[in-house]
Amino acid sequence: MLRTLFVTTALPYANAPFHVGHMMEYIQADIWVRFMRLCGHTVHFVGADDAHGAPIMLKAEAEGITPRALVERVAAERPRYLTGFHVAFDHWHSSDSPENVELSQSIYRALRAEELIDVRTIEQFFDPVKQMFLPDRYIKGECPNCHSKEQNGDNCEVCGEVYAPTDLINPVSVLTGATPVLRDSEHYFFRLSDVRCQEFLNHWVEGHSASGAAHLQPEVRNKVREWLRLDESGKSALSDWDISRDAPYFGIPIPDAPGKYFYVWLDAPIAYLASLKSYCDSGRARAADGSVQDFDALLADPATEQVHFIGKDIIYFHSLFWPAMLKFSGRKVPDLICVHGFITASGEKMSKSRGTGISPLRYLELGLNPEWLRYYVAAKLNGRVEDFDFAPDDFMARVNSDLVGKYVNIASRCANFLADQFGGEVLELGETAAWTELGAAALGVQVREAYEARDTARVARLAMGFADQLNQYFDAAKPWELARDPAQRQRLHEVLSISVRGFCDLTLWLKPILPALAAKAEQFLGCGALDWQHRSVVRRVNAYEHLMTRVVEKQLDALINPPDAQDPKALKLAPKPAPPPAADGAASITIDDFNRIDLRVARIVSAESVEGSTKLLRLSLDAGEGRLRTVFSGISAHYKPEDLLGRLTVMVANLAPRKMKFGLSEGMVLAASAADEAGEPGVYLLDPDSGAEPGMRVR
Ligand code: 2FM
Ligand code: ZN
Repeated sequence: MLRTLFVTTALPYANAPFHVGHMMEYIQADIWVRFMRLCGHTVHFVGADDAHGAPIMLKAEAEGITPRALVERVAAERPRYLTGFHVAFDHWHSSDSPENVELSQSIYRALRAEELIDVRTIEQFFDPVKQMFLPDRYIKGECPNCHSKEQNGDNCEVCGEVYAPTDLINPVSVLTGATPVLRDSEHYFFRLSDVRCQEFLNHWVEGHSASGAAHLQPEVRNKVREWLRLDESGKSALSDWDISRDAPYFGIPIPDAPGKYFYVWLDAPIAYLASLKSYCDSGRARAADGSVQDFDALLADPATEQVHFIGKDIIYFHSLFWPAMLKFSGRKVPDLICVHGFITASGEKMSKSRGTGISPLRYLELGLNPEWLRYYVAAKLNGRVEDFDFAPDDFMARVNSDLVGKYVNIASRCANFLADQFGGEVLELGETAAWTELGAAALGVQVREAYEARDTARVARLAMGFADQLNQYFDAAKPWELARDPAQRQRLHEVLSISVRGFCDLTLWLKPILPALAAKAEQFLGCGALDWQHRSVVRRVNAYEHLMTRVVEKQLDALINPPDAQDPKALKLAPKPAPPPAADGAASITIDDFNRIDLRVARIVSAESVEGSTKLLRLSLDAGEGRLRTVFSGISAHYKPEDLLGRLTVMVANLAPRKMKFGLSEGMVLAASAADEAGEPGVYLLDPDSGAEPGMRVR
């Protein structure tokens, strides 16, 4: 059954650029949306800036500009990040918009008509120095629930508890450092403690969307059940929610309440709807049948699934206030709240000020491939509410070993053989035993299930497992040998065709994660745009153009250790292990990669057998450095020591010295050998042409 989805990500505050946590959430949502579309579902994917609130007002005041000017300046930067990381929202809007004013006020009026709004005089903190009521975020203190220090005035980032600022222990004004004083003010409350809210939420928390997915992940559901539990006297444990703020405030005016504004958290989620409305009103939103999508009709349709991607710190707002506000204003309630954990560095939430953060913009400016980060994020997220640590070595391994070394490698290994031997033609073999044995069909079903559950870590595991199988299949078939034997021509063509078909399946599986790479791969495969609704057949591959480069350690180092990073906890790359030996069809490297290897002409001054080793010879090499280097080389089976004396050869001069059982080896001599070392082994030392001198650079 084809579905219609309305998907959002949490709205970022409009007073600061995106950080890597934002990008992680957008990448997660974008991958899910792309997957849904490849299955044929209709998706409306929108975002917006969260423009209101005291912090934005105060920051603008400090800069001597209006809050709107500040919001516009920050908003102007959004596309660089979104386009840069291939995050394709259909529409980006703002909570400071006419649509949001209209929707927020109308939802409020509906709640008031339901008698779910109370007006009460409360005592509120007032900064006697700044002479204003203090916004929640400008009061810090100890959480009344878990006693964590330095918590915000409205909710605790440690235990997730939401409370009134007056509940804080030892409050302090962040603006002036003064101890705030209590003053009376009339405030508006949403009566979440009403028995109707309690009943509805108890029901909703256990519910499912039209497509059968639970509204909440199990661990989130348990948390919300705790919040909903009745106290000993049978009363709701939920507190009513203070939804008003006094002027001066940058927000939406509360109808019939001069000088009062909606608290930013009231109008922020409503801006999900405002953004959708603005998108529909633009005429660009299309229904499944291709007609222009009407906003009211979309949300009135019970089959439309409303999906919100959020972080674990804002579960309370999205699983209690938001569904209740929607329900009692007569609107569609959320179908799926997709909660993720945080991205951390060395176990701590990333912080730019401590130098442990990764700036998304710096990432792009350094020329790192955005799809490396997309893949890394995908490989770490499993659909559960777990933090994951950004580990540079892990990042390099995932990209270089998995993506380039396994997936891209398949195409690069087949491309030249197919072009040279068969003019690019690929055989359509159907379900041969060799193909069936690889198990792609069953794996494809598992990949889809994993995407549906946002378990992209499993998608990556399944895809790389299959890539391993394909590479092994290719190695075992030894196409380089088949190519030498005319009698094996058909077999060679079959092996290459099956490998390409596997690459084609892998491309589809990875396409939501790697949209740009998939487009290049589709171009090579010449099969049109891949999707999950049609089986694509590759008939002739096009000229192969390199699909993806490896991460260069220098780039990653520049990213994670920016010049201004002070923190000793800043991420570090582990010392680099020796690179794996090159294989047939190894992925290409850049000229910079090649130039990092210092190759020198060296004269073999002495050579001797090594006692206790049947493989090694101990060589003394003169590379024009005024000293001799000792290098152990595994050529004992192929050369007599006396035959090597005085010969010139080529040495890797900047290989990290390696401590071996027999002593320190300070380099490596280069030799050619057959790709298939299991067969007749032959090892041939490289020998420069006459005229070369020890110490000359080889390039
Ligand atoms: O926590 C935040 O960054 C909020 N700006 C999220 C708002 S999400 C939604 F409600 F708009
Ligand atoms: Zn707490």
